[in-house]
Amino acid sequence: MEKILVTGGCGYIGSHTIVDLVQKGFEVISIDNFSRSDKKVLEGVRKITGKEIVNYEIDLCDLNATKKVFEQNPGINGIIHFAAFKSVGESVEQPILYFRNNLDSLINILECALQYHVPNFIFSSSCSVYGDIKNLPVNEETPLPEAASPYGTTKQIGEQLIKETAMRCNTRFIMLRYFNPVGAHPSIEIGELPIGNPSNLFPSVFYTALGKMNELIVHGNDYETPDGSCIRDYIHVMDIAEAHALSLLYLMNNKISEEEKQMKNWNVEVMNLGTGKGHSVLEVINAFEKLSGEKLNCKIGVKRPGDVAAIYSDNKKAIQKLGWNNLKDLDEMILSAWQWTKKLNDKL
Ligand code: WQD
Repeated sequence: MEKILVTGGCGYIGSHTIVDLVQKGFEVISIDNFSRSDKKVLEGVRKITGKEIVNYEIDLCDLNATKKVFEQNPGINGIIHFAAFKSVGESVEQPILYFRNNLDSLINILECALQYHVPNFIFSSSCSVYGDIKNLPVNEETPLPEAASPYGTTKQIGEQLIKETAMRCNTRFIMLRYFNPVGAHPSIEIGELPIGNPSNLFPSVFYTALGKMNELIVHGNDYETPDGSCIRDYIHVMDIAEAHALSLLYLMNNKISEEEKQMKNWNVEVMNLGTGKGHSVLEVINAFEKLSGEKLNCKIGVKRPGDVAAIYSDNKKAIQKLGWNNLKDLDEMILSAWQWTKKLNDKL
């Protein structure tokens, strides 16, 4: 059974990915220091899979502590590196925190991947590398402009570090550019766990509906979009999770010829993980109100620094290369996340 190390394994996407990996027959260990996650997530994973996942509560910015995990777990066949801070808004307010955390941790895990000869590495990248791009949908060949937030910058630099590292090793890398992950596992044993008041749209909608937040601020309705609010490519977290297991299977089953190894960047691939459809903030609000029967208390506010007007994906490469399909629609994303959030707040 192939052993996979998942960093940030107790986070939102990490936990959903661990469930999918276990159900696909992988052996999984996790590294998570609970700086942006909660230990109780492992209980949810156990309830779904029946497996107790070993989690090493160490900071990936501590190289020696990270190396100890590899020493204790010989034969790791793949790394999925999720661990990073990911709030666009927070990164604008605290850029150095984002540079330090997101880049130091990546450099350390890359050093371990090389030192311990890990053959496969999946990197959690982001649509925020595309910055404020006008030509939509974006595909993996789209030239990257300046990122629109420090968070996006850490992902652009992260991708560069991986390309440079890949030129000097035989590890194979896939960098997955997530669009907006939302939704919850159908069991509603795991889902998005905002720390404090949420900054993301979906949890903010649900918290407002539950009265945990007084009102939902729509960050701007005077963008150059059909209804003036920002457009994003929301994608179900379970679809994102499955793309990671499919990426590992793709790397393990697709041997590279000696001829292909002569190509520059032969061992690095980039793929968009989005639905290919954009929905505006106001569309999401209307869809939630229709599905839930709730009426949200909304207010139009000012634009949020770091936001781009619109972005959505061309996802054909991931579909073709990974056999990634049957993506869930917006209603299923909203309903699963709403059920999870009500359960989280004992409203079920
Ligand atoms: C979406 C839209 C807000 C809250 C996320 C992840 C990031 C990356 C990309 C993976 C924006 C608006 C929000 C609110 C609002 N994913 N909004 N009122 O900023 O696109 O980034 O997806 O790497 O990690 O964080 O997501 O949900 O914060 O915002 O109007 O109360 O909703 O302005 O237009 P974002 P978001």
